[in-house]
Amino acid sequence: MKFFVDTAEVSEIRELHEIGLLDGVTTNPSLVAKSGRDFKEVVKEICEILPGMPVSAEVAATDYDGMMAEGKVLAALADNVVVKVPLTLDGLKACKHLTDQGIKVNVTLCFSANQALLAAKCGATYISPFIGRLDDLNLDGMELIGDIRVIYDNYGFETEILAASIRSANHVSQAALAGADVSTIPPAVLKKLASHALTDKGLDAFVKDWKATGQSIV
Ligand code: E4P
Repeated sequence: MKFFVDTAEVSEIRELHEIGLLDGVTTNPSLVAKSGRDFKEVVKEICEILPGMPVSAEVAATDYDGMMAEGKVLAALADNVVVKVPLTLDGLKACKHLTDQGIKVNVTLCFSANQALLAAKCGATYISPFIGRLDDLNLDGMELIGDIRVIYDNYGFETEILAASIRSANHVSQAALAGADVSTIPPAVLKKLASHALTDKGLDAFVKDWKATGQSIV
């Protein structure tokens, strides 16, 4: 499974990239607003940190013409920009026409299998089903990932399933089990994936026992 980090905070992206955990980045207007940075500047900076890795940058327009105009500006920022459009009829049309021009598109705000089917038919590179926001409504976000996997496999669609709105470490492993190609994960959740109480306990014991030997390795 590929890991994208879901943030517009450059310092967090650098830190996780240095560990070697990242395959890409997703941003959205809320995350850009939270960063307090200029949108185009921050997208360019992220693209430079992760050359060749996909960096999703979302259009602000909601009409087809506006999305096309903004999508082209965003795609021109760097070779690795993926234009993110909402799952509306205008967004699907923009997906189709941007894709036809060789621009990669991530269709976001997907909440149903039918929506995912439409995005694949319009040539989306990624479809972003929002797990956490479905769970918030007592619906089953993970079931949606599994349904999309079956549908895409039934028809050989190459659109990658990008599990989004991930809220917990369990979401990541469940999305992997359900067959998502990618998870986009908030930095804090990504770091938590490494944690286990038994790892901490075991390491404490090893450190204590090693000290008792009085030896050093270097
Ligand atoms: C990613 O592409 C989405 O914008 C993001 O995962 C949404 O997450 P949220 O529901 O926690 O805001």
